[in-house]
Amino acid sequence: MERLPNSKLGNHSKIVTINSFVKQHIVLVGMPGCGKTSTAKKLARLFKCDWYDLDMLISDSTNKSISQLFEDLGEEKFREIERLELQKWQVDKPSILATGGGTPAFFDNMNYINAIGVSVYLEANEKFLYDRLSSKKDERPMFSGLSEGDIRVKLSKILAQREFFYKKAKYTFKLPIKAIEQLIYKELTRNNSI
Ligand code: S3P
Repeated sequence: MERLPNSKLGNHSKIVTINSFVKQHIVLVGMPGCGKTSTAKKLARLFKCDWYDLDMLISDSTNKSISQLFEDLGEEKFREIERLELQKWQVDKPSILATGGGTPAFFDNMNYINAIGVSVYLEANEKFLYDRLSSKKDERPMFSGLSEGDIRVKLSKILAQREFFYKKAKYTFKLPIKAIEQLIYKELTRNNSI
């Protein structure tokens, strides 16, 4: 194993193995609460590669939390920063990237994602997302301060707006799936498709 300098990795992804066998980047997309970050970590273990989280990269480079960025700059500016950070993410070794829930739905981000790697959509219905989000809504600026009813309405609205983009992903896995990372690993390594 080799360890990259912290400055290059930020706080989120510390160990890089040199015997990784993933040949292309894997980019996870899906609604907030679908489990992109935790799946990225587990997949990285299976593929023996590094993993990144776009929100963490944004926080590292701006020195602000995502909530702070929304508060200080507003969503529109956040989307520009998000796009720049996505394009800045150019790591040599094939790795796993968890994007933000909104990333694919702005600018040409979804086409860009498909150009840089194998995209995987973690598809989840509103109930699944609501159950996961309602307890942690204050960590997510899109939902903080909203009532139960408003969260449901907002989830339904943004899911409807974003589905078109998510569905451009090369692979879709419909949640809930137990040990989702195992299934993704199996599918993507089948026929050497990655
Ligand atoms: C957002 C999702 C968040 C984060 C930001 C905006 C969205 O990422 O990028 O709060 O628009 O759905 P997660 O999907 O990791 O929560």
